Amino acid sequence: MIYMERLQKVIANSGYCSRRKAEELIEAGQVYVNGEIVTEMGTKVSEKDEIVVEGVTLNKSVKKEYYLLNKPRGYICSLSDEKGRRVVTELINTNERIYPVGRLDYDTTGLLLLTNDGEFANILMHPSNNVEKTYLAIIEGILTTEEIYKLINGVVVDGVKVVPKRVKVKKKDLEKNKSKVEITIVEGRNHIVKKMFLEVGHYVQKLTRQRYAFLDVKGLQSGEYRCLTNEEVSKLKSLKK
Ligand code: URA
Repeated sequence: MIYMERLQKVIANSGYCSRRKAEELIEAGQVYVNGEIVTEMGTKVSEKDEIVVEGVTLNKSVKKEYYLLNKPRGYICSLSDEKGRRVVTELINTNERIYPVGRLDYDTTGLLLLTNDGEFANILMHPSNNVEKTYLAIIEGILTTEEIYKLINGVVVDGVKVVPKRVKVKKKDLEKNKSKVEITIVEGRNHIVKKMFLEVGHYVQKLTRQRYAFLDVKGLQSGEYRCLTNEEVSKLKSLKK
């Protein structure tokens, strides 16, 4: 029997991109199956079909790779940059087409996962799977008790309320007029932590992601990376609801 799968899933599983991105490409007419454009989302394909995405023929048997990087400042989370800035994938020594799971800003440091497994990336990025991310923020000014409560009760960012899982003030430096705050969220929107602090009147000077689900960057210097273990990969995949 020939096993059939939905086209967007096959593209994601090949490691080409996430499932969401695959759907966009299908809709945009960038996907050919056996030489014909396919724009219908439910289309099913088999191993035998030739799939071409944005002019690239999919290699269905690529080895899945999973990396944990301690991202330095000054790198962007993209595959290329028109302004010529350095990209995070440059830091990983591989010939596979890997990409970051979500984004950290150019000036944000810390834990970033990279993979060529679209299904894996999709599980971690999907809001319904509630993957916790913990950030350490150095903010301008002293966070008042009232502002801490405001944060804990949730702030509205771009029209959507974000309620953190935890907020811990680690240090209030009255002399330098700065606070160090640890915040855990499940949200993955761009610049979300900086925007949350701005909502309560504080500019984020430095931001580091310390933890992603149960993972941390212990033992890795800035710019260093390691492969995830099979056990870690399975545990992350099991976060799917
Ligand atoms: N929130 C931000 O504001 N920036 C990041 O890089 C990550 C989360």
